[in-house]
Amino acid sequence: MTETPTRNDIKVDIERDVAQESHSLRAGLGLMALGRKTELIEYDCKEADCGICLFRVISGQENLSPPTTREADFLRAMRCDPNERLACQCRVFGNVQIRIEGDPED
Ligand code: FES
Repeated sequence: MTETPTRNDIKVDIERDVAQESHSLRAGLGLMALGRKTELIEYDCKEADCGICLFRVISGQENLSPPTTREADFLRAMRCDPNERLACQCRVFGNVQIRIEGDPED
């Protein structure tokens, strides 16, 4: 699904094996603000605890908010790569392209 961005919107491109989507989002909001626009990003705890929302940044890493303390603790404990982040913790300030492994509902 592709939307026409408005002036304050940034673009979030999401890749997953089942689909690719492009969404607009107001700069500064969290990825969770995409809400019902996409089912490609899944959430459960929303507190940097479960890891179901883990994604890999393909481009635009500099446009994401720095990891919260909780997110940093999780990423360190799980030995995640530097370009892996938790969608429930990230705010987005510019265009990003992200990839999520696995199929939803797995
Ligand atoms: S929803 Fe659980 S870590 Fe993001």
